[in-house]
Amino acid sequence: MQKTDSSQMNFLEKQEYYLHLINELMSVRKRGEKPLAFIHTYGCQQNVADSEKIKGMLSSAGFDFVDAPDNADFILFNTCAVREHAEDRVFGNVGALKTLKRKHPQIMIALCGCMMEQKHIAERMYKSFPFVSLVFGTHSLQNFPQLFYDALFTGKRVYERDNDDKLIYEGIPIKRDGTFKGWLSIMYGCDNFCTYCIVPHVRGRERSRKRADIISEATEMINNGYKDITLLGQNVNSYGKGLDEKISFAELIGEIDKIPGDYWLRFMTSHPKDCSKELIDTIASSQHISKHIHLPFQSGSDRILKCMNRHYDRKKYLEIVNYAKAKIPGLSLTSDIIVGFPGETYEDFKQTLSLIKEVEFTSLFTFIYSPRVGTPAAKMDDPIPAEEKSKWFRELLDVQEEIASKRCASMVGNKEKILVESVNAKTGELQCRSSGNIIVECEGDKSLIGTFQNAEIIKARHWILKGKIV
Ligand code: 5AD
Ligand code: SF4
Repeated sequence: MQKTDSSQMNFLEKQEYYLHLINELMSVRKRGEKPLAFIHTYGCQQNVADSEKIKGMLSSAGFDFVDAPDNADFILFNTCAVREHAEDRVFGNVGALKTLKRKHPQIMIALCGCMMEQKHIAERMYKSFPFVSLVFGTHSLQNFPQLFYDALFTGKRVYERDNDDKLIYEGIPIKRDGTFKGWLSIMYGCDNFCTYCIVPHVRGRERSRKRADIISEATEMINNGYKDITLLGQNVNSYGKGLDEKISFAELIGEIDKIPGDYWLRFMTSHPKDCSKELIDTIASSQHISKHIHLPFQSGSDRILKCMNRHYDRKKYLEIVNYAKAKIPGLSLTSDIIVGFPGETYEDFKQTLSLIKEVEFTSLFTFIYSPRVGTPAAKMDDPIPAEEKSKWFRELLDVQEEIASKRCASMVGNKEKILVESVNAKTGELQCRSSGNIIVECEGDKSLIGTFQNAEIIKARHWILKGKIV
């Protein structure tokens, strides 16, 4: 069911009113001083983008932001459920707030994000940490002002998850962390149900934003000086499903590319099963789309890919990669890999190693398989011991390090357009990034931060390049 724009407007007006009430309550409590919030985000860019919305709402309610919890009036952990390690860190870090809450009982502590959409985890956290006042899941983000106000006004604990309102709310304020690099969500949720992955269970079905809303946000970002914009979605290649208008991801990004300005466009994440030649052709002929594709293949073994429910095989993956390499000179490819999926043998793992060698990725995000309650893979036989998986994992890192070093060394002598991002606190050098998303370190003044420069690559050290601004 599609809600009408006017009922969405009423809903957002109501939320705005709650922000106003929070502002008044906090202003009395703080005797006119600005209330302070500490927001800590775990996990992927989608979570970072959600936190930027929460910060937008808090900003409208008069909050400023701090980098540590000690002086904050409001502490929020936006959690990640993708791997057990991320979950353990949240449990540890929330537990550590107990003393702070005892010292300053007026602080409000809240938890949100993917972990809170898992019933067993949310309930465990709610019970284990009675000093947490507010718990809400990813589907309740748009209600945040109301939930926050309820907890603040009543002093009672508020808990909301599995909200069945899975619509897209346009118009929630956003306070972006960066001034020249920014995220732009184009869709939410995932329909792919890879057997190891919790995301479809905690973020719900795929929902695409309307083309006009995305174009207008992209235009605003570009006009406000954003130089590096990443379009976000769990599987951007299936953008457009369920919309009234017929539009593919390639068409959408092609249209954004026409917006005048000096900027780079990136996107993540692409699923190989839906990565079309049309998209590659669009990148090849575009002005602004960076020459970088993040294309997670997860495993090089067809048998394991089938068990993972990935809907492509090694041959199809290589076909699209080779097409892309031929069409986009200097293309940089990155990927995600899971080591030690249930039932994976060393023979399967060797297939992953051989794929890495064949493709020559610029960099990899590598993970040891982590069982997630509620996913089919968690019920599969997993006979390989953890130490053995760690050994394979280290072998993978060694192979990739050699490939990345070789790739970077081959770039020495190239001229690259780079975006100056920050100053390295240790070396004083400028930290920059190439279109292919490779770090380039250069001598230069910090006033260049946020600008594009041209650099000659003079040296390569492992997967980092040294450049000279020309
Ligand atoms: N265990 C390990 N890695 C996982 N990922 C997703 N689920 C799991 C899991 N259960 C990895 C995949 C995905 C990336 C975001 O996280 O490689 O692409
Ligand atoms: Fe998870 Fe697969 Fe969806 Fe990516 S495509 S979010 S790995 S289910």
